[in-house]
Amino acid sequence: MNLPFEETRKLGEATRAIHCGEGVDSETKAIRRPIVMANSFELNDSAETLAESFDWNDPNAFNYPRSRHPNARYLEERLAGIEGGEDCVVSSSGVAAISGAFFTLLSAGDHMISSRICYIGIHGFLVEHLSKRFGVELTLVDTTDPESVRAAIRPNTKLIHVETPSNPTTLCSDIAAIAGMAKSIGAVFTVDSTFSGMVMQNPIALGADLVMHSLTKYVNGHGDSLGGAVIGRKDLITQIRLAAGVHLGATISPFTAWLLMRSTTTLPMRMKRHCENALVLARFLEGHPAVKFVRYPGLESHPQHDIARKQMTGFGGMINFALTGGKEAYFPFLGALKIITHAVCLGHTESLVQYYPQQGNNPELGVLNYPEDIGEGFVRFSVGLEDVEDLIADLTQALG
Ligand SMILES: Cc1ncc(COP(=O)(O)O)c(C=O)c1O
Repeated sequence: MNLPFEETRKLGEATRAIHCGEGVDSETKAIRRPIVMANSFELNDSAETLAESFDWNDPNAFNYPRSRHPNARYLEERLAGIEGGEDCVVSSSGVAAISGAFFTLLSAGDHMISSRICYIGIHGFLVEHLSKRFGVELTLVDTTDPESVRAAIRPNTKLIHVETPSNPTTLCSDIAAIAGMAKSIGAVFTVDSTFSGMVMQNPIALGADLVMHSLTKYVNGHGDSLGGAVIGRKDLITQIRLAAGVHLGATISPFTAWLLMRSTTTLPMRMKRHCENALVLARFLEGHPAVKFVRYPGLESHPQHDIARKQMTGFGGMINFALTGGKEAYFPFLGALKIITHAVCLGHTESLVQYYPQQGNNPELGVLNYPEDIGEGFVRFSVGLEDVEDLIADLTQALG
């Protein structure tokens, strides 16, 4: 492949996931990007050109790797290509990418609206730090109802943030409807699309200014690295790159960026299989007498199934369910699983479950009030790529 980035990004999704940001190494002719571990880069020598080495608008002007380095840049091109954004900045984790974006775009006295149910680390950052310590006015709303977002708008609303589908409860918010509201008031609209696995929904096409991802999840997919990305408007990405890299320092390592780049090549294929397996398992669980309820965006019974159908091309690999037997049933169930592992994280090749006990609802820790119907707690199920018959057999014996 010898096409420049701007050409590769016009290709089909699977081709973009393989070729954007890739290229032949000019020194060795290797057809894979090298891992560049240098922590310093030679600067331009002349008085006329030195400034180019420090041009913050040029993501390829490498000087010191905390702000930019080649492996981060290859990965950024790949992700911007897959997501269809003008540019991308990658960070050391999902939380680093998202908090870096909010620190860059918001100041004390600004108002921000966010999904009430969002990943707990982001929820804690918004409530405990951005709002309580740094003076950003914060309103948490149920973004599954766009009218709640409209009602929360203030004259100083600078940013609207939606996580869809949400972690852990897979709530879906109407991206296009909320994008219209943000646009009408000139606010930046950000979408955490981690649960979609990047390829199952396209927030930028629906009007988002920035899309955020924990790369640790589906993009990595193999359970062996941590990373985060913000993708979208170039003017905003340039600001975030400067603030998050130079001033906050949440840089991804070259090796991690290389690993994540490698993982992206199979992302569209993997996501297809995650979605197929999850739909089969959600239907299986819904029909099982030991299961009290199942929530999966692909099921007709999901409260926002229509929104999910409108804006997703597949419903992802994340399922929630609760056991009819309540509290007493959870630990025997978790202990009986043989293939599915009880562990944090999601989006791996292997299936993972995480149990959320009701005592996890601790407002002092910024922990959410999970929906009332969860009762004695529930299981967040990250459906892996195993043979679905083996997963059904494992669940059947453990539920029994
Ligand atoms: C939706 C969502 N956003 C952000 C994050 C944070 O990502 P990381 O763990 O890579 O910091 C997570 C982690 O679970 C997540 O699920």
